[in-house]
Amino acid sequence: MAELEPELAELHKKLEHHILEQKSNWKSFVYAQQMSFYQGFDEIKLPGCRPTEQRLERYDIKKYLTTEKVALDIGCNCGFLVLHLSKFLKHVDGVEINPYLVNIGKDTQEFLNINNVDLHPSRFEDFKTTKKFDIIFSLANDDTIDGNTEFTFDEYIKKIQGLLNEGGHLMWETISPDTYDPELFKPKRLILEKKFTLLEEKMVKSEYPVNVPERRFLVFQNN
Ligand SMILES: C[S@@+](CC[C@H](N)C(=O)[O-])C[C@H]1O[C@@H](n2cnc3c(N)ncnc32)[C@H](O)[C@@H]1O
Repeated sequence: MAELEPELAELHKKLEHHILEQKSNWKSFVYAQQMSFYQGFDEIKLPGCRPTEQRLERYDIKKYLTTEKVALDIGCNCGFLVLHLSKFLKHVDGVEINPYLVNIGKDTQEFLNINNVDLHPSRFEDFKTTKKFDIIFSLANDDTIDGNTEFTFDEYIKKIQGLLNEGGHLMWETISPDTYDPELFKPKRLILEKKFTLLEEKMVKSEYPVNVPERRFLVFQNN
């Protein structure tokens, strides 16, 4: 692999340090340990299990993104998707329970000099804001295998609905169990389709976990 420029090498060192701190101190399940980073980010030449830029291409949702819109990413992990999305949106908030991952996002935000992003180290359950969002991302997040989702599915959807503007969009990627067993997703789909209008649905390539080569991706509208 080509050598990194000194500034990037310095950033990678900082980010790896957060991973080490997480290893010592974070008591919950750590995603993607084999590669250090769950999310990869080409912009900073950082490999990860789920490549951010390619994911956005696969979702094919650029038509929903405009520089007048504000978005929220629930369970944003390292915040790399939030940082990438910020190029196409007015403002993006990310909420993530794991503070070590939030620190990775914050250092990267500073390195890239991005000013239209806020990363919040918080549980989604506790996240308070007076804002309403035009787009909310729930990517592999509605019932996390780390056991840190306390909300029932109804509570989770209710909170999303309360945060979403009328006409706003919910971008949904299934958690892995819902992907390999569509029966598991059925009751959730019923609730989602009752509350929102389904605009799009597709299967998208996914690299992680390796037994889930595709995930279901859906776009809903809040009427
Ligand atoms: C499977 S990962 C998905 C990450 C990201 N949404 C993505 O698709 O790249 C789930 C993430 O949700 C976070 N998480 C789990 N429970 C949470 C909660 N109650 N509130 C906020 N974040 C949570 C985890 O720390 C982890 O980063």
